[in-house]
Amino acid sequence: YIHPLFQRIRGDMIQWKKIEQQANEMISAAALDKSALQKVCSMLQQTVAHYDWVGIYTMDPEERRLDLLCFEGLPTEHTSIPYGKGICGQVAESGEALFVDDVRLEDNYISCNVLVRSEVVYPIFSGDRLVAQLDIDSNKTAPFGPEDRKLIGRICEQIGEKWPLADF
Ligand code: SME
Repeated sequence: YIHPLFQRIRGDMIQWKKIEQQANEMISAAALDKSALQKVCSMLQQTVAHYDWVGIYTMDPEERRLDLLCFEGLPTEHTSIPYGKGICGQVAESGEALFVDDVRLEDNYISCNVLVRSEVVYPIFSGDRLVAQLDIDSNKTAPFGPEDRKLIGRICEQIGEKWPLADF
């Protein structure tokens, strides 16, 4: 049990601006390749205490399938997800971000491990084309606030802008 006040103080101590700058440097460095995105995932997972698993899935519109490109956290069996299945599959079809406060209340959810309580799946657009998703799992219930939304939104925007120069 974490007292809510302590949780809030810890949240306030996160250096959101610094994390965004670090991600920005990793994304803008040379060509956008798998190792740059791996670094972004690792940095996020290591700096934000409530990000327990951070990964990026790319879209395969012909196969209607998501493929795991890179991640930091516990290994998952779900390296390939059909459109429509789970939170990721729903975002693949809608193109709209989903913030799930409690995954136990979801019908259409794919569990990666039993510790996960909440999840964000945020779309990455290159122009108007949905090209990838940033997926963050937390072992806490409802940990995501306005600062998370801002950070995650900006990072996905930056990755999307760089996407035409991607080299995977
Ligand atoms: N929970 C996701 C599957 C991916 S794992 O979280 C790594 C979903 O429901 O789509």
